[in-house]
Amino acid sequence: MKDLVGIKELSKGDIELILNTASSFKDILKRDIKKVPALRGKTVVNLFFEPSTRTKTSFELAEKRMSTDVLNFSVPTSSVVKGESLFDTVKTIEAYGVDFIVIRHSSSGVPHFIARNVNASVINAGDGINEHPTQALLDAFSIIEKKGSLSGLKVAIVGDILHSRVAKSDIFLLSKFGANIRLIGPPTLIPDIADRNVEVFYEMDNGLEDADVIMMLRIQIERQGRGFFPSTLEYFRNWGLDMRRLKLARKDAIVMHPGPMNRGIEISSDVADSSQSIILEQVTNGLAVRMAVMYLLSGRNEDA
Ligand code: CP
Repeated sequence: MKDLVGIKELSKGDIELILNTASSFKDILKRDIKKVPALRGKTVVNLFFEPSTRTKTSFELAEKRMSTDVLNFSVPTSSVVKGESLFDTVKTIEAYGVDFIVIRHSSSGVPHFIARNVNASVINAGDGINEHPTQALLDAFSIIEKKGSLSGLKVAIVGDILHSRVAKSDIFLLSKFGANIRLIGPPTLIPDIADRNVEVFYEMDNGLEDADVIMMLRIQIERQGRGFFPSTLEYFRNWGLDMRRLKLARKDAIVMHPGPMNRGIEISSDVADSSQSIILEQVTNGLAVRMAVMYLLSGRNEDA
């Protein structure tokens, strides 16, 4: 496989290979010397057309840990602001002979378009409301670390599913592994999904009952415009995760959030910082998962 543009395109076996490889990289990251020469001589460009904290820093650190040469492309100081097209920008960067292009863009489908037009491996770091495959992979890795497997788990995904590329990638992945997915949120923010593994709940209390995993999602005000719910106060009252609601799930339920969090809107601070929250472990695991993705796309595992 040349690119990672979405979870939809991956088989169960592909995903298992990535997660097993990530597990080996996680062991390496526990050592004193965390850097490996696995991708020495390779060059990667990080092209982020949308803001990012976790994904950008995670890719950059993963690239450095793998000994690649890293180019960080800064959109606001580039010729994009002079009107250069995405195609010309990417072709210009490709002329340096880069091996990987990591791209985040506000338009769905941009990574797919680039992948068709360059020889470099393209990794989707989030495209519009479409997919965020490395987030779903790190989510799966984090759940398996805590629960042993995905099959049969009751996973509640709560909030702005309509605008969430994380939710879409998670649903594709969890479905392939036989998890029971519950989508919880206001009717205006839940798209029609015909999947035998997916149930929809508009009442949060019902949806959380006996859940093994609760994945909270950010309310994406920047993609919504107005009118999807009356107010943020009203939203928290109906679909926010607080301590009372957390108690409706299983005692050993884990709480996840891809970040960035809106504390007090979709999740209360006491839940976000509780012992059941694995939000920061998700960030840690993202590093090993992204190292695994780049290593496998490079084909160097086949040389070994
Ligand atoms: N989870 C995630 O994509 O976070 P960032 O927007 O900070 O990269």
